[in-house]
Amino acid sequence: MAKMAASMVESGEDAFRKVFKFYKRRNPPPDFSDVVDFSRGLPSDKIVKAKLDPTAVSDVEAARIGLQPVRDWRAFGLQGYPGFIFISNPFLPGSQPFWIRQCLKTYPQKPNVCNLDMHMSPSETQDIWGQSVRGLSTPSGKREPRTLLERLRWVTLGYHYNWDTKTYSSNHHTAFPADLHSLSSKVTAACGFPGFTAEAGILNYYRSDSSLGIHVDESELDHSRPLLSFSFGQSAIFLLGGTHRQDAPTAMFMHSGDMMVMSGQSRLLYHAVPRILPAPEGHTASFLDLCCSVSHLQDSSVLESVPEEDWKVCSRYLQSSRLNVTVRQVLGPGQSFPEIPTAHLKTDAGQTAGYHDEHVEQDSGKRKRSSSCDSAELQTNHL
Ligand code: OGA
Ligand code: MN
Repeated sequence: MAKMAASMVESGEDAFRKVFKFYKRRNPPPDFSDVVDFSRGLPSDKIVKAKLDPTAVSDVEAARIGLQPVRDWRAFGLQGYPGFIFISNPFLPGSQPFWIRQCLKTYPQKPNVCNLDMHMSPSETQDIWGQSVRGLSTPSGKREPRTLLERLRWVTLGYHYNWDTKTYSSNHHTAFPADLHSLSSKVTAACGFPGFTAEAGILNYYRSDSSLGIHVDESELDHSRPLLSFSFGQSAIFLLGGTHRQDAPTAMFMHSGDMMVMSGQSRLLYHAVPRILPAPEGHTASFLDLCCSVSHLQDSSVLESVPEEDWKVCSRYLQSSRLNVTVRQVLGPGQSFPEIPTAHLKTDAGQTAGYHDEHVEQDSGKRKRSSSCDSAELQTNHL
């Protein structure tokens, strides 16, 4: 099959898996002509314009977090996926570097949790950035060993997701970053969800050969709240399926600065990232070339300018990496975690599974995740 239109794959036992493998394939490279590219509005028959609420966020509020006025955002829906909203890079020129540096320098810091904590002591993972700067500033080539930053696969924020039990719990919680909360609540408000509370975050760090297996995010206790996702750096193919694994997915590109909101009927759909791709020419400018051009930050801005030495490290890292930030509201208003006898709770020490790595293999009803690049793989039942 030289060409495979995702939309033409019939539903069947492993329709999603087939499409996943198709886009993951290296040799020969797959045909990407059926992949929806919201940044180019193609293919247009599936794309519909999404209606936002420009009054929900003032232009000043938007600028404070590095976003264009909401009326200028290019927001789309996909036919057949009610509640799915794709916003094509609404960031102001030069503001992505702030968020990128937060993901690489700030959010991996304690008390947040990352994959490296699973087999390293807190003192060893205390300063991931500081320990990586020198290595990443050295011209590439055969440098050994890889820096901690290059071995980072995931970071959790707020209610820290437990990969083993697939739960959040009240006794494993740290403060959610105020800046990311602000960004998340403004974006969701503009999408028609006022009062969104960012309570948990999962940051994914992808290398060019990484992928993320087929899954549904269902661990949050209130599914009426949307799930929010931000992408930075290199591009990716995102597959959005149905409520059953058998439903064939739609493939779309995600570029740096793009946002996705999965709400309503799309909140619990299967999805996956089979492939990371080099960002197209026009897109690298949005995150690589325009750093430190935020010269007129308002006094009230959440953003800070990124020093050139920090940006050097970020841009080198991003030459072959993609960052993804997902933000979740875990509890509905007034909701609390169910009481679980403490004997049944797993301790952090027992938490060994990770999120994803370059060897993610699909198995019916399961996805493989690993805690680190040391490829300690663990297969977790998904359903
Ligand atoms: C997730 C997820 C998708 C992405 O973290 O649950 O689906 O774009 N991420 O990396
Ligand atoms: Mn997900």
